[in-house]
Parts: sequence; structure tokens; C-alpha cells
Amino acid sequence: MTEQLEISSLQLPNNLTDSDAADFLEAGLLLDQIRLETWGNRDRISDPETRLVSWRQNDYSRLEVFLGKLGGKIVALSWISLPLHDNLHTGFMSVCVAAEHRKRGYGQLMLETVEKYAAAQGRSVLMSSTEHPADFDPATIAVLEPKSGTGAIPQFDAGVRFSLRHGYQLEQVERFSELRLPIEGAHLEELLRAAEAKAGTDYRLEFWQDRCPERLAESFAVANSRMSTDIPSAGLAVEAETWDIKRLRDMEQRFIEAGHRIDVCAAVHVPSGQIAAYTYFDYNQKKPQLISQEDTLVIREHRGKRLGMLVKAANVRRIQEELPQLEKAITWNAAENDHMLAINIELGFAPAGYDGEWQKDLRKGPANEQLDSD
Ligand SMILES: CC(C)(COP(=O)(O)OP(=O)(O)OC[C@H]1O[C@@H](n2cnc3c(N)ncnc32)[C@H](O)[C@@H]1OP(=O)(O)O)[C@@H](O)C(=O)NCCC(=O)NCCS
Repeated sequence: MTEQLEISSLQLPNNLTDSDAADFLEAGLLLDQIRLETWGNRDRISDPETRLVSWRQNDYSRLEVFLGKLGGKIVALSWISLPLHDNLHTGFMSVCVAAEHRKRGYGQLMLETVEKYAAAQGRSVLMSSTEHPADFDPATIAVLEPKSGTGAIPQFDAGVRFSLRHGYQLEQVERFSELRLPIEGAHLEELLRAAEAKAGTDYRLEFWQDRCPERLAESFAVANSRMSTDIPSAGLAVEAETWDIKRLRDMEQRFIEAGHRIDVCAAVHVPSGQIAAYTYFDYNQKKPQLISQEDTLVIREHRGKRLGMLVKAANVRRIQEELPQLEKAITWNAAENDHMLAINIELGFAPAGYDGEWQKDLRKGPANEQLDSD
């Protein structure tokens, strides 16, 4: 007989060293274990300090974590992140069960807990991700294609089966890519020179770390809003995010508190003084050989001038000079995002995996046409 799972809400400690931090730390170990199992490395694993900062409520999002315990030990977990400023109809959730406790219905219980909570909070659309290393051959195993039509993930993965069974639809596949660093100097200079030549003299590059200079802050907030609308989102029910300087400063402060270093490179349109393109790296000293390539955006009116390559290549050159110990950069792109992928491939990024992006409308029943493809 399956043992009764005790489900409770996680209370976040103020500090990692507080006496009530045990559940938080144990929950983190379960999440780490799942990622280690999937990827065989710690690249996508957060350290506890970062996790504590990112799990704390702020003006823009709130996280609720549910613990599933057997005999006082955490064996299952679900969490949901609720946007508080925009996208109030949505929640991003995740469920996991320790490998040795799977196939006993605990995943379903944790999912029901989080879905019930989301509905009570007035959220009607839930999204989630599954993660898949690129070690499968779509020609020889059964794969599931997203509704967006590009990319594929293994159909018989436990997370895929679980998502389908519970009424989630695979909307999109994101490619997870790795770049070996350093990029060879001559190749990088060649990419930079070609991008500079195409961009012309209307743009100048600006670099900053952690905090955007005040004179560019408003323009950077606008660029951050555009990032939420301009990346391909397939059928995911995401609305535009509204950014102002307060939101920007709040995000910067949270990165600083988590011990991260953010290196931004922006192309400023000289005639207007506005940001035309930007990109940033997220670096955590606790993983000194690794850097994460985050947002890259060229504002629509400035596209077609190689500004995407210009800011990215210039930022790579800068971090290679400042952080010579780096060995690898990682990044994510929608599988259908041809323009961004083309730039990344020229820089040397290669696929390391695929993330499935799932969505369920809680107002609809569990019917799922993708399940019929079993
Ligand atoms: C996906 C995941 C959460 C499922 O956890 P779980 O506890 O095994 O989930 P359940 O037991 O509710 O259901 C899993 C399967 O076990 C079956 N099952 C449930 N109770 C069972 C029982 N008593 N005996 C045998 N099988 C059982 C379910 O029918 C389901 O079958 P299916 O895979 O053929 O669809 C788990 O595999 C996991 O943590 N994976 C890594 C993280 C992940 O991918 N999460 C999903 C993203 S939200």
C-alpha cells in the first residue's frame, strides 16, 4: 500500500543559517537531485543563496512551494510562481518526485495541490517546463512535436507522459545550447568587424555592470518591456509585461543580493539617445567557469543591421577579457527563433538539450489531443 503523503506549505527562512531553514535546504537538495539526474552536471542548478533571494516575494512575483513528506522527509515538491504586476491570469508551476518514490501517485497529488491553489488565486492558465538532454535521435525514438511545429522532445519521458496525462499541451520547444569559451580571438574579431560595418555610425556601444546608468534607465525599461512581447511565444498565453525604472531597479537589486554579476552591452542609437539593442550575461562566482547568456533584443525599428551580433560579440569579448577562467556559456532560444539561433550558431553555440514548454487552461477539461499521439 502506498504510504500517505503529508503535504504542507514551505515557510521561507530569513537566512540560510536560521534554525527554521531545514525544510528550505532539504527542498533545494531534491530539486538539485532531479537536475543532476537529468543533466549529469550542476550547470542548471541554483545555489541556496540565489534560490532564497529568487523565492522571496517581491512586488512582481510570488512563489508558493508545497512539500510532500513521508516520515518527515521531503520526497516530492511542487511550486508555482505567480506574476503580480501583469499576466495575472497565469502561473508557472513545476512538480517533482524523488526517483525512488515515483509511480505511486505522489506526482499527481502534488500537481492537484498546486492546481487547486492556482485556481483559488484566480489563475486560469498554468505553464510548466520539462527538460531533455540532446542525447536522443528523433529519427529512432518516438518524439512529440509542439503545436508551434518546430522542435521535438522524447514522447516517453516521465515528465512528458505526466504533463500529457494531466491535460497540459506542448506549445513550444526551446533549444538549450552551450558555447565553449574562449571563442578564438580572430573569429570573434571577424564577427565584430562585419557587424560594425553593417550597423554603421548611427550606433555606439555602452557597457555596464549590475546597475544601468541613470541616463539610460528609462530606455532600458522600455527595452525590457519589448523583450516580453518580441520573443516568439508560440501559443503560450503571455501578455506584455510593463516595465518602468522601479521594476528595473528592483530586478537589479535582486541580482546583487543573490551574489550575481550582470554584464550588459547595449547599442545606443546616437541620433535619438535610445537603446536600440541589448544583451546581458549573468555570472555567479560560485560557478566560476560558467556564464549564462540571457536576454538579447533588437528593438523592431532597428532590426536587419546586425545589432544582435554586434552587442553579443562585443559582450563576449568583454567577458573573455574580464573573466578569463570561463569555460562555457549556456543559453535558451525558442526552436523557431531562426534569427537568434543563426547568430548563436555563428558564435559557436551547439545544442545541449531541449525544454518543453507546456500550458493548461484550468477552465477546460483534461481532454488533450496530443495524448492521442501515444
Ligand atoms: C513527472 C514526475 C513528477 C511524476 O511523478 P510520479 O510521482 O511518478 O507521478 P504519478 O505517480 O502521479 O504518475 C506517474 C505515472 O505513474 C502511474 N502511477 C500512479 N500511481 C501508481 C501506482 N500506485 N502504481 C503504479 N503506477 C502508478 C501514473 O498513472 C503515471 O503513469 P504514466 O507515466 O504511464 O502516465 C516525476 O517523474 C519527476 O519528478 N520527473 C522529473 C521532473 C519532471 O519532469 N517534472 C514534470 C514537470 S512539471
